[in-house]
Amino acid sequence: MGWTNVADDFFTVEHTMLDQTLPDHLPKIVSLRILFTRYLDFNAVPRRSFFQLLRYFATDELEREKLDEFVSIEGADEMYDYCQRVKRTTWEVLSEFRSARIPREYVFDLFPPLRPREFSIASSVEFHPREIHLCVAIVRYRTKLKMHRKGVCTSYLSGLKLGDTLRIGLRKGFISLPTDPNTPVVCVGPGTGIAPMRAVIEQRIHEGHTNTTLYFGCRSAHKDQHYHAEWESHAEERKLRYRVACSRDGPEGVKRTYVQDLMKEDAQYIWTMLGQQRGILIISGSSNKMPTAVREAVRGAVERFGGRSNAEAVEYVAAMEREGRLIEECWS
Ligand SMILES: Cc1cc2nc3c(=O)[nH]c(=O)nc-3n(C[C@H](O)[C@H](O)[C@H](O)COP(=O)(O)OP(=O)(O)OC[C@H]3O[C@@H](n4cnc5c(N)ncnc54)[C@H](O)[C@@H]3O)c2cc1C
Ligand SMILES: NC(=O)c1ccc[n+]([C@@H]2O[C@H](COP(=O)([O-])OP(=O)(O)OC[C@H]3O[C@@H](n4cnc5c(N)ncnc54)[C@H](OP(=O)(O)O)[C@@H]3O)[C@@H](O)[C@H]2O)c1
Repeated sequence: MGWTNVADDFFTVEHTMLDQTLPDHLPKIVSLRILFTRYLDFNAVPRRSFFQLLRYFATDELEREKLDEFVSIEGADEMYDYCQRVKRTTWEVLSEFRSARIPREYVFDLFPPLRPREFSIASSVEFHPREIHLCVAIVRYRTKLKMHRKGVCTSYLSGLKLGDTLRIGLRKGFISLPTDPNTPVVCVGPGTGIAPMRAVIEQRIHEGHTNTTLYFGCRSAHKDQHYHAEWESHAEERKLRYRVACSRDGPEGVKRTYVQDLMKEDAQYIWTMLGQQRGILIISGSSNKMPTAVREAVRGAVERFGGRSNAEAVEYVAAMEREGRLIEECWS
């Protein structure tokens, strides 16, 4: 990395060390403030390689010992407890290892580029020409150490005002819809997983299909049942079959109802749509366990109403995936 001073606090950056990854769209002239506020990620939980490099720049003996411990094989659990478990950020680690002086030539080795965040397009161009709708959950939580945390991108988005402009890119999605009007589509999208489903449903309705089903899951019918007026209106017009699981509206202490529970209740219908009529299943959302549970519900329907053994039902769902009849757009 070559740096040349051009004015007080401003430098030109030249990519001379090819093993270093530079952030995209880096301007030729930057200041450290601009680099750290717009291009580098120091809010993320640091990786082991960060501690290895930090050890190199720390001058305090106790700090070096601690960093040696973290990067050793025996210290792996301790580093997990210190960092990953409590979501300690890079800048919090730096504020505890204060003896480290990092020469600016090494900035791109220590701090990874701020990565772009992806959001599913929640609208069909046929319904909303020249518009892109998003359905975004603003990330806010407290760590195990009771520290308040905000998501980098969603906090930024939530602070935007009407008329502000953004640099965005578009990427082709994973979902392709059937052209045969007789092929049913079953959408399963709890929470913000509803985003791509809204685009799918709008597109299907625009094309005149009436064999689309939506399984939606939210915490409470009155708080986060996104787009419910639209679903109810489409359902009334018989253009959509709408099922919703409101997980936190039931009595305290009773097991929460999720999308997969509704699918188990509807096992015969699921077999008719996905088995007999060879429909397409689309799963989307942010839960790690949800997609597995939804597959399990489909396997159950294949077993009970498709007359398959457990092993055959497992293979049936695997085959759906291979044939492109089971599409997943999930994130953690
Ligand atoms: C293909 C794709 C499509 C997506 N579509 C959408 C979409 O339509 N809508 C949408 O809202 N998001 C969507 N996402 C997720 C989105 O890209 C971002 O990851 C998300 O918005 C968080 O970004 P952030 O910068 O605000 O949070 P970050 O600063 O990146 O923080 C997120 C991190 O915080 C931690 N975290 C978050 N909540 C908690 C918690 N409760 N407890 C403990 N730790 C927690 C986790 O480690 C998580 O990885 C999609 C992702 C992908 C890959
Ligand atoms: N939805 C909100 O009102 C809300 C508000 C603020 C912040 N957020 C945050 O935003 C992020 C994403 O939110 P989101 O709205 O996309 O999703 P979400 O609210 O976390 O989840 C959507 C629905 O899926 C349910 N769910 C949880 N585990 C499941 C599983 N294993 N299988 C099936 N369903 C499951 C949830 O139930 P339970 O959660 O009841 O178990 C909820 O009903 C999360 O980090 C969340 O904490 C959400």
